[in-house]
Amino acid sequence: MKRVAILISGGGSNMVALLDSMTGDHPARPVLVLSNNVDAGGLEKARARGVKTAVVDHRPFKGDRSAFEQGLNKTLQAAKPDIICLAGFMRILTADFIDAWAGQMINIHPSLLPKFKGLNTHARALEAGVTEHGCSVHEVTATLDDGPILGQARLLIDPADTADSLADRVLRLEHQLYPAVMRRFAAGDKTEVCLP
Ligand code: GAR
Repeated sequence: MKRVAILISGGGSNMVALLDSMTGDHPARPVLVLSNNVDAGGLEKARARGVKTAVVDHRPFKGDRSAFEQGLNKTLQAAKPDIICLAGFMRILTADFIDAWAGQMINIHPSLLPKFKGLNTHARALEAGVTEHGCSVHEVTATLDDGPILGQARLLIDPADTADSLADRVLRLEHQLYPAVMRRFAAGDKTEVCLP
């Protein structure tokens, strides 16, 4: 059974989708939900599901990323995860941290990568006038929102869509895509998942 740690910063709806998927014949189980934000709504949702939680607040480190990451690593190493899922974790990680978990860390991003890396992806998709949008799960490498794609889910943009409506529509796709990719990844299969 693979051990999974999930890193969050906010509401944790992707985390909930992942936690709820890891039952029955799923090849993985959650061992830790870790947040950089003590107020992350996802922490309570994880506790309610009986999953151990921890917080490593980034603020006292005041821009000293490597000291913050030492704190993260200490907590993560104690949980001995085989897989780390970034699920709305909004801190940029250094190459040193990423290299230490090479091949074990995956992320969900709200765009069809390589399009729209970074923030405000839905507004930028609308501005760019693309007809198709969606989300991607990828292996984490030292370059931000890069790394081999493990799955994508797509939708057609409606003329009435706003950044908010797209965020809602894409988030619902994320909740399908991330568990589907994680199940495959935990079974050692990196074949790309394509939804719908
Ligand atoms: C999700 O849309 C996720 O793709 C995005 O943050 C949201 C978290 O929602 N992640 C990023 O933008 C990473 N750069 P959640 O906390 O409800 O899962």
